[in-house]
Amino acid sequence: VKITRPKFVRTIEALSKALSNQLGKRRYVLLTDDTVGEVCLPLLSEFLGANSPLDIIEVEAGEACKAPEVCVQLWSHLLQLGITKSDVLVCLGGGSVTDLGGFVAATYKRGIPVVFIPTTVLAMTDASIGGKNGIDFEGVKNAVGTIIQPESVLVYTGFADTLSEEQYLSGFAEIVKHGIIGGNPLWKDLEKYINKRRALDERLLRKSVDVKLIIVTKDPFENGDRRILNVGHSIGHAIESAFLKNGQSVEHGIAVAMGILVELKLSLRLKRISEKDAFSIARVLQDWFGHVLPSFPDWSQIEPFLIHDKKTNSKKILLPLPISIGHVEIVDFGRWALLKDVYNQFVG
Ligand code: GLY
Repeated sequence: VKITRPKFVRTIEALSKALSNQLGKRRYVLLTDDTVGEVCLPLLSEFLGANSPLDIIEVEAGEACKAPEVCVQLWSHLLQLGITKSDVLVCLGGGSVTDLGGFVAATYKRGIPVVFIPTTVLAMTDASIGGKNGIDFEGVKNAVGTIIQPESVLVYTGFADTLSEEQYLSGFAEIVKHGIIGGNPLWKDLEKYINKRRALDERLLRKSVDVKLIIVTKDPFENGDRRILNVGHSIGHAIESAFLKNGQSVEHGIAVAMGILVELKLSLRLKRISEKDAFSIARVLQDWFGHVLPSFPDWSQIEPFLIHDKKTNSKKILLPLPISIGHVEIVDFGRWALLKDVYNQFVG
């Protein structure tokens, strides 16, 4: 499998040119969400000129769009438009839009080409890279989906300027995750840039994307190594789900940062990581995310979701744990009681 490397462009004009080059003479439908449609699409539209989409479909922003009903609406819309394999679905948006659009493109007519234009840090560094797509089903996040590479990923980092502090930091959690997995040179940058909101640095983003590309290239279908990209996610998803159940919400990456903190502590308890590296990771997490972390839900609220999480396995209890800076390993930590004990240190 050839993993799609993103192309970086510096201006909106260059983005529209890159899109035109990619599409050639093909027709395309643009999928976006109502927030991006309002904030980013007008910027791009200005330069699309004659190369305008056949149609623009806007879905509701956020996780809500990753639903079977939305897929049904999109499939039917594409059919009505007479879209075939010779056409392209272009997805402009964050991780929810690329997850949804990637899945719809992968399944409609058994697969039509899809181009991603990520507009959030999270989608630029993670969701648009590596071909995972999917929707939520019966309350389980990403329960249905496929792994198929987009035809192209076009990254314009300027879109990150449109994000709120929390959305911006949410994406940075995935960059910190890549820093823990890949180590230097990314890690050094993360220690240096700590907690200074600024224009998203393309060099930093490229280093983060490189970590993901290396892992996904080795294991495109997640039979082994790719699972380490889930560090922070089992606990993070359970925290997200507990928030949702309480009618609250937390940005995905913020929950992942919380998950990494717990897994780091677990690794320390298991004596799998040195105190020095654990301290360094905890400091980076604290400095980047300390001011936006909500309080941890009670264990009883996250436990049901941990059992549902497809990344854990109820007989062997597997979690990707930080072992050193630049090394994450899937560890069978054996006892729920231990995880509960470690988790409870963060509650209250
Ligand atoms: N977001 C993790 C992966 O793509 O495998």
